[in-house]
Amino acid sequence: MKTIIEPFRIKSVEPITMSTPEERAALLEAAGYNLFRLPSRHIVIDLLTDSGTGAMSAAQWAAIMLGDESYAGSPSFERFEAAVRDITGFRHVIPTHQGRAAERILAATMLQPGDIVPNNTHFDTTRANIEAVGARALDLPCAESRRLDAVHPFKGNIDLEALARLLADPPGRVPLVMVTVTNNGGGGQPVSMANLAAASALCRARGIPFYLDACRFAENAYFIQQREPGFAGLDLLTIARRMFALADGCTMSAKKDGMANIGGFLCSNDDALTRHEEELLILTEGFPTYGGLAGRDLEAIAVGLFEALDPSYQEYRHASIQYLGAGIAAAGVPILQPPGGHAIYLDALGFLPHIPREQYPGQALAVELYRHAGIRSVEIGSVMMGRRDPQTGEERFAAHELVRLAIPRRVYTEAQLAYVGRSVIEVHHGAQALKGLRITHGAPFLRHFTAALEEVPAAVPA
Ligand code: F0G
Repeated sequence: MKTIIEPFRIKSVEPITMSTPEERAALLEAAGYNLFRLPSRHIVIDLLTDSGTGAMSAAQWAAIMLGDESYAGSPSFERFEAAVRDITGFRHVIPTHQGRAAERILAATMLQPGDIVPNNTHFDTTRANIEAVGARALDLPCAESRRLDAVHPFKGNIDLEALARLLADPPGRVPLVMVTVTNNGGGGQPVSMANLAAASALCRARGIPFYLDACRFAENAYFIQQREPGFAGLDLLTIARRMFALADGCTMSAKKDGMANIGGFLCSNDDALTRHEEELLILTEGFPTYGGLAGRDLEAIAVGLFEALDPSYQEYRHASIQYLGAGIAAAGVPILQPPGGHAIYLDALGFLPHIPREQYPGQALAVELYRHAGIRSVEIGSVMMGRRDPQTGEERFAAHELVRLAIPRRVYTEAQLAYVGRSVIEVHHGAQALKGLRITHGAPFLRHFTAALEEVPAAVPA
């Protein structure tokens, strides 16, 4: 078998501060058992997100020195626009400070109260921006995604039959259809070219704009190349261009496959829509040749987008995530199968069957991974996606209780991922002793960022 190694050398290093489980227990209590509230200097391995946490290349740092900070007409914007156009083919490219700013502008220009926006699975910020203008964010994940342990090559697909039914007889206006590549809310699973083409055709037959949430477009292109018949011989740039050619526009967080620490963009081919979007952009983000970004950020993204399409980089990235996932699954740890393009998702209900859903088993697992090994993960379960019914006060649970181990790009070595794998297995061995949690403070929107929790004392057997 071919040995796949990190296709880079390390030129600059950051120290990691080690800590003890006792120190971390005190930090957890001070943070209200909310890992978003932990100071990052007390984290050993930070797998909270793959967003903006990657290591930039020497070529990106060099490009940063070319950054032109002119308020209007910067050549950095020209290079950024040319790179985005080259990959996506879209005529209009609007820079934004990150993905959610693109989502906010899109929602404000395209949606009205009561509208319905389907997606394979909306990411939390996309959903929140759609709901903030009074529209409804509808998830239509494919049937294969329902079972966490079922292996399917394109579990991120949108449910085409459900989409066709919705478009044939919509209970409200559908002014926009989105597909998220890869499907972050559904386990970082890829979407096939065939699924994108079919969804695009359904939309085009009705004149409905079809958009990609393209944050992880390069990882999705790699899965298509590896798994979809007919694509093995094509390079990742060609595959990415074909994905974008099926769409009428995209939102993008350059903090993922832009390989940058900040940035995003919004694209379309619609002249009138773009004019309206640019008006809003100027209101909150900035002039259309910089959006919310510095010229140097535009330069880093222009280089990074192509680095994400480098075949040896994608091969290494997928091999390391696969290595982590296969190792913990072989030890009997329940995970969402197959491993995603940017993360491993632990199935907290299978991991902690003794903790009821009202006591947030995903959060309990994330808390213990930190206490035991200093690993910061993120709960993607009922703390994040659940809601308290405003009328009854009853808790509505998320579809699954997951804990995501998101892998930053080009940051951690194989030894560090081996440490993560061993730590997860150790926590699994001691799982019966873990306690559930209750929320003592929760905001109505995106409550996971600010919530405070406390441990629920274990029930004393009668
Ligand atoms: N869409 C998807 C699929 C995302 O994963 C994210 C961010 C966004 C949109 C918003 O982009 O953060 O630049 O505003 N996901 C990060 C995560 C935060 O941890 O998965 P942003």
